[in-house]
Amino acid sequence: EIDQKVADLLAKMTLEEKVGQMNQYNGFWNVTGPAPEGGNAEKKYEDLRKGYVGSMLNVRGVENVRAVQKIVVEESRLGIPLIIGSDVIHGYKTLAPIPLAEAASWDLEAIKTSSGVAAAEAAATGVNWTFAPNVDIGRDARWGRVMEGAGEDPYLGAKIATARVTGFQGDDLSAVNTIAACAKHFAAYGFSESGKEYNTVDIGTSTLYNMVLPPFKAASDAGVKTFMNSFNELNGIPATADKFLQRDILKGKWGFEGFVISDWASIGELVVWGHAADLKDAAKKAVTAGSDMDMEANAYIDHLVQLVKGGEIDESLIDDAVSRILKVKYELGLFDDPYKYCDAEREKTVIGSKAHNDAVLDMAKKSIVLLKNENNLLPLKKEGQKIGLIGALANDKNSPLGSWRIGSDDNTAVSVLEGMQAYKGNKLTYAKGADVALGDTQFINEVIINKTDKSGFSDALKVAKNADVVVMVLGEHGFQTGEGRSRTDLQLPGVQQELLEAVYKVNPNIVLVLNNGRPLAISWAAENIPTIVEAWHLGTQTGNAVAQVLYGDYNPSGKLPMSFPRNVGQVPIYYNYKNTGRPDPYPDNAQMVFWSHFTDVEKTPLFPFGHGLSYTEFAYSNLKVDDSSNASNPKINVSVNVTNTGKVDGKEVVQLYIRDLVGSVTRPVKELKGFELISLKAGESKTINFTLDKETLGFYNNNGEFIIEQGDFKVFVGGSSNTSLESDFKLN
Ligand code: IFM
Repeated sequence: EIDQKVADLLAKMTLEEKVGQMNQYNGFWNVTGPAPEGGNAEKKYEDLRKGYVGSMLNVRGVENVRAVQKIVVEESRLGIPLIIGSDVIHGYKTLAPIPLAEAASWDLEAIKTSSGVAAAEAAATGVNWTFAPNVDIGRDARWGRVMEGAGEDPYLGAKIATARVTGFQGDDLSAVNTIAACAKHFAAYGFSESGKEYNTVDIGTSTLYNMVLPPFKAASDAGVKTFMNSFNELNGIPATADKFLQRDILKGKWGFEGFVISDWASIGELVVWGHAADLKDAAKKAVTAGSDMDMEANAYIDHLVQLVKGGEIDESLIDDAVSRILKVKYELGLFDDPYKYCDAEREKTVIGSKAHNDAVLDMAKKSIVLLKNENNLLPLKKEGQKIGLIGALANDKNSPLGSWRIGSDDNTAVSVLEGMQAYKGNKLTYAKGADVALGDTQFINEVIINKTDKSGFSDALKVAKNADVVVMVLGEHGFQTGEGRSRTDLQLPGVQQELLEAVYKVNPNIVLVLNNGRPLAISWAAENIPTIVEAWHLGTQTGNAVAQVLYGDYNPSGKLPMSFPRNVGQVPIYYNYKNTGRPDPYPDNAQMVFWSHFTDVEKTPLFPFGHGLSYTEFAYSNLKVDDSSNASNPKINVSVNVTNTGKVDGKEVVQLYIRDLVGSVTRPVKELKGFELISLKAGESKTINFTLDKETLGFYNNNGEFIIEQGDFKVFVGGSSNTSLESDFKLN
């Protein structure tokens, strides 16, 4: 029915109107007020009136959205409503943890709920399309945008992509609390050379098919309505102009029926890359490759009509793109009521609601990873203790919001200091110690950060000396990660490492709480500090979540979605690496250097993928694996017993990895192929079952064909990628 409506509408449209649907404008100005001087706001208004705009981004708030929508609906010839996009990455106003942190929960239901909260708030403010989820695989902690993805693993990444898409879009896209999602950035943005933003990507087909594409395919299979292409080039072709990715794979092999949006001005950047001669050539290349909508490059609106009229591109390309865009608008219900997301009453009640704050608090607690807990320094005793709290980030209400805060006001997170103050049985004393960042600017370049001021050290040392336990909140400011925030140094920024070591000298009873959007290289801390808690940037409810974990009101169960390196030189480091021809030292000759390693540091990560502790302990036993199965339709049953051997109830992520020992294309030494988040009461045991099948036992060959090969496999089960329990089976 919708297809027919789309066809009928398309038949009524002029070429100019069709091209208009492929044009997206940014709208920072207050649309209800006068157009600001300068810029091209006047032209944008004019195009809205003519029906030459299909979408706007960054128009926020019911009043503003209603105003732009009213222009197209009432003044343009056909009154085709706009689709309103926004970067609702981990919440609109009530912010959940950054996506990398959420991934650490391995809790697909919670992640889905969190995306649902984001969608409900965005929809209540007039937005009906989010540029999320980011499903880029992140192996390189130098790249600032690893904070936006689900980490290094394609299997976990695919599961989380599905959870996020279904969370945003719900069961009914036309409902007033669901919005269209966007899988981005297609493709391989996370593999930018040296982790430098917007850089070249040069990867082989095996990595592309087996590592990069699976989460995108999962998003497509889950019915995501849109894709965004990426700023990087892939093997010499800028992704925006990559026909192989967009037409052959996405719209061809995968049968994706939604539309593809360019990234901001990325069509224009084809010229800068040296792939297109001018903007007209760029428009031609992008539309031919399958980019359906132009975000702020003015390439389509200025050149597509001419390109069709001059016979340089076929109008069928335009018709296909416009049909895809109109279809999503119909599915959102915008033709039934263009103002359905513009309800001022709903905006007031939904945004920042108690229920949403409860949900993001729950997500924040689930995202925390206990990296180390020697001497059981945690959980903290609730009474009679002197707690010293140190670190500028502990008293920061802005940093925990991260760098994508869209509709949230600055300084609205619950700080760790505030969260800790809610526990009144102890004496809490705070000292800043050292600054992390200068001010609250979005655009922190570390060169401008004051790295040397140690004037706060003496107060911090006084606090530490008088404390039974010192809680130090150190790491990155929320604006030190994210887009455009690549770093070459993964240690604690500024003088924080010196502060940590100085405090350690006067009181080694330290609980280090890390705030960061990427794995950090904290080798000294890992060796010397007894307790380390990974608390990322946890959003609006940060302080409450951290305090509840530190005090044991919530038993942490998070597991790392990215390996932590020992130093930046190990990066990219990931658990699913290839064995190489020389994986081990020669046993008789410890001096031998000719094997795959570093001479100055161990080759293993500091903390492996999947690692995370609890206030209780879990024992794994009785691993049972079917001996063999037929490779044409395999089914291997795996079961394992897990027992909570500690004194408190807890949750554990039971992880299953395989190794395909011989492959026509070499296989990684371990690949995650199943996991289950379980709750166990103290002393309780459960048997956990997994089934390995076609989907989990196969891989993509270098022609992009999914194949399963006969031969021997290993199975590993445990609480991290560094498991010891293993067995094997054969595919005949
Ligand atoms: O969605 C983003 C994208 O991830 C990076 N460039 C800008 C887009 C719109 O804000």
